[in-house]
Amino acid sequence: MTTVLESHPLLADAASVAADPSRYRILTGDRPTGPLHLGHYLGTLQNRVRLQESGVETFVVIADYQVITDRDHPGDIASNVHEIVLDYLAAGLDPDRTTIFTHSAVPSLNQLMLPFLALTSVPELQRNPTVKSEAADAGLSAISGLLLTYPVHQAADILFCHGNLVPVGQDQLPHIEQTRLIARRFNERFGQIFTEPQALLSESPVLLGIDGRKMSKSRGNGISLRANEDETARLIRRAVTDSERLITYEPARRPEVASLLLIGALCAGTSPESLAAQVGDGGAFLLKRVVTEAVNEHLRPMRERRAELADDAGLVRSVLSKGADRANEEANRTLADVHAVLGMRY
Ligand code: TRP
Repeated sequence: MTTVLESHPLLADAASVAADPSRYRILTGDRPTGPLHLGHYLGTLQNRVRLQESGVETFVVIADYQVITDRDHPGDIASNVHEIVLDYLAAGLDPDRTTIFTHSAVPSLNQLMLPFLALTSVPELQRNPTVKSEAADAGLSAISGLLLTYPVHQAADILFCHGNLVPVGQDQLPHIEQTRLIARRFNERFGQIFTEPQALLSESPVLLGIDGRKMSKSRGNGISLRANEDETARLIRRAVTDSERLITYEPARRPEVASLLLIGALCAGTSPESLAAQVGDGGAFLLKRVVTEAVNEHLRPMRERRAELADDAGLVRSVLSKGADRANEEANRTLADVHAVLGMRY
């Protein structure tokens, strides 16, 4: 079962990437719906930085148009974008090597959606399990055209810069599959331009937020990277646990306790089992104290760096403007190639 999955052309394996980083160009992204949290840091940010350090060219889209797929109002999108850029920089993304940009700053990227929509059928979009579950999570009574077609927009995110490696979580796989279909159909129908990208699955497990549900920006149940140490302690103190005094690592039976142990272990560089043993029969109180210490210690250098970066008033704007210039260059070239094979040159 796993072997079938591992050998699927949709999935890249980390060893081949490490063996020849110059063959790859990464495109990945985040929706600016709230501050990045520990789950992002442990699950994706650290890995992006690692890939950047290994020499893979990286593009990161802050998917501002995706924010309004499942809600009526964008919220304080400017502030969310600002904070996310600071999180990226504090975590170690380097704007000289990694292109950081927003959808809204790259018109040609968005225009790619038009030919891509022509290559996509409505039933295949309606079948997309991630779109369906996002609509359900948001409690929507009807799916908007933008929500239905955002996997196509995401194909434009990936293909505009010929990204061939997309580090994502499991939930994003249907979109990568959709992107591969679009690339293949475009090449067959109109002309050979695009490469079918592969997903690089993140290895870290899904972390739970303090309410015992998946840690998520939109739910505001995460330990945000920008929170200070007291806020972190307060949040973890509020986390849902259970009333058994002996702390054990049993993800199926005690998911909330297990998630706290996992968070603490990932931060302290140990295993959840040995952290559980260390807490022993100290109950949830001691567990939370140990986890808080591990989290605060692990995040301290990054938070200090983040505070320094935040003092530099023009920094975020200049990172975004430089990223937009680079992304526009790529997108304009790709759109020109698309227009050429479509005969749209007048
Ligand atoms: N949909 C992704 C998420 O919610 C964010 C995203 C937007 C993305 N565009 C992308 C991820 C392109 C990978 C590639 O996490």
